[in-house]
Amino acid sequence: MYICLEGIDGSGKSTQIELLEKWLINIGYKPFKVSEPTESEVGELIRKMLRSSNASEINFQITLALLFAADRMFLMDKIRKAESEGKIVISDRCFYSSIVYQNDDEWIAQLNKHAKIPDLTILLDLEIDTALGRCEGKDHFENKVFLEKIRKKYLKLAETEGFHVLNAENGVNKTHYDIKRIISPKLGICI
Ligand code: TYD
Repeated sequence: MYICLEGIDGSGKSTQIELLEKWLINIGYKPFKVSEPTESEVGELIRKMLRSSNASEINFQITLALLFAADRMFLMDKIRKAESEGKIVISDRCFYSSIVYQNDDEWIAQLNKHAKIPDLTILLDLEIDTALGRCEGKDHFENKVFLEKIRKKYLKLAETEGFHVLNAENGVNKTHYDIKRIISPKLGICI
């Protein structure tokens, strides 16, 4: 099973992925935690580029889309291997992030056609002001106008792709509980 957490910067995905990993271990599963951008050399380059002041420009976005897709393809083999070993893959972002953050949805979808589609995607949704209060402000994407646009795109994509949308404003514990509530039926367990 491949589970993905999505959301705007500052939505709390990283904290929730860690809690999810601990919970899965506690109940006897073997989670395999991944995140995008990855720790690969391409991922490092992406992180450096995200700090650049022209990160929102169109050609820059095209380059980023290509790099994100390349970074992701390295990850696909690892995900497939983990799944074949019976592990539950939990991912902080997937190709859906490229669809909402980079422009030209159709091209992005084509570029990522070999990326695995998660079995379950949970969108952590929250107000931009709350999210920005949690951001470090190091990336160019962490600004209000841009993130408002991204939030809207996420909510639209959630409808067409069938994401579970969670209100991520209610504190770490409540959000963790809500995530467990969504995942447990898929695992055939009660919480
Ligand atoms: P983020 O989850 O914020 O990572 P970190 O916690 O290490 O800062 O992701 C980094 C940024 O990358 C975030 O602003 C979203 C952006 N991003 C894209 O623009 N496209 C993508 O395909 C992915 C995976 C991320």
